[in-house]
Amino acid sequence: MPVIETERLTKRYGLRRGIEEVDLQVEAGEVFGFLGPNGAGKTTLIRLLVDLIRPTAGRALVFGIPSSADPVAIHRRIGYLPGEYALYDRLTGAETLDWFASLRGGVDRAWQRALIERFDLDPARRYREYSRGNRQKVGLIIALQHRPELLILDEPTTGLDPLVQQTFLQVLRETTAEGRTVFLSSHLLGEVERSCDRVGIIRDGRIVTVDRVAALRDLSHHALELRFAGPVDPDPFRRIDGVSEIVAAETTLRMRVSGPIGPVVTEAARHGLLDLTSHEPSLEEAFLAHYGPGAAGVPDAR
Ligand SMILES: Nc1ncnc2c1ncn2[C@@H]1O[C@H](COP(=O)(O)OP(=O)(O)OP(=O)(O)O)[C@@H](O)[C@H]1O
Ligand SMILES: [Mg+2]
Repeated sequence: MPVIETERLTKRYGLRRGIEEVDLQVEAGEVFGFLGPNGAGKTTLIRLLVDLIRPTAGRALVFGIPSSADPVAIHRRIGYLPGEYALYDRLTGAETLDWFASLRGGVDRAWQRALIERFDLDPARRYREYSRGNRQKVGLIIALQHRPELLILDEPTTGLDPLVQQTFLQVLRETTAEGRTVFLSSHLLGEVERSCDRVGIIRDGRIVTVDRVAALRDLSHHALELRFAGPVDPDPFRRIDGVSEIVAAETTLRMRVSGPIGPVVTEAARHGLLDLTSHEPSLEEAFLAHYGPGAAGVPDAR
């Protein structure tokens, strides 16, 4: 039985689109990434799963339980990180975590302490004093501290610095190694690539593809900008596999690279490379670059 299943799940906000006829299945023990640009419908689907809003049509099942039939039974077994949330300004991090732990009838204190240490959170500060990233850590620990069977995380890495993101990925791996399941939303292709087994892409409220992450690799590319000591001939770069859209301007070269960037860096080093910046595209950029704006064709799921 899938851990999460949606059947023609539809939500309209008045006449406005939320999501349309979404069919999804998430299996036990996998990390499933739900990927889509801003406004695609990720948060809408997640809020339907946890019964914060009700569907216009279709249904959502979590652990086989229709989410609007018995949300309490579902919430007992999940950890949920909302996309946006506000907590109690005057409570410290520790008090906040304990308060949520007490709602669960207590949690394993050693595990709670381990999470606080691993996420490098100072639990003595009041919530209102925390920076954006530290607030996100509090939310994540609330979702994780009772070791739920299923994590439902809406853009979990928002605001986390790269080191903490690494910790988060490690915790996800441990979670699935214990047979538990993760459903997370993101708008970053690279992040999903690193953390997920399978991915569903949603655009304009509809699922356009569901596949193993490996199948998405060729969607992924980097925008590179290379700065040199003097003007550089772009021709040797054109001959490198995966390089396209080269733009040469005085002492800089910009290009799009799909696949490994190593050969480009090697070539650049021969020409007096001063500086290199690599920009990982958002899903929207990668996806739209691949299928074109308003592309009617739904990509082949392979
Ligand atoms: N309460 C609401 N009332 C009206 N429209 C809404 C409401 N909530 C969401 N929508 C609309 O539903 C669509 C999907 O929004 P949703 O928040 O699910 O997107 P998202 O994929 O989570 O985007 P983001 O990446 O920006 O978080 C958007 O067009 C949004 O304007
Ligand atoms: Mg959202």
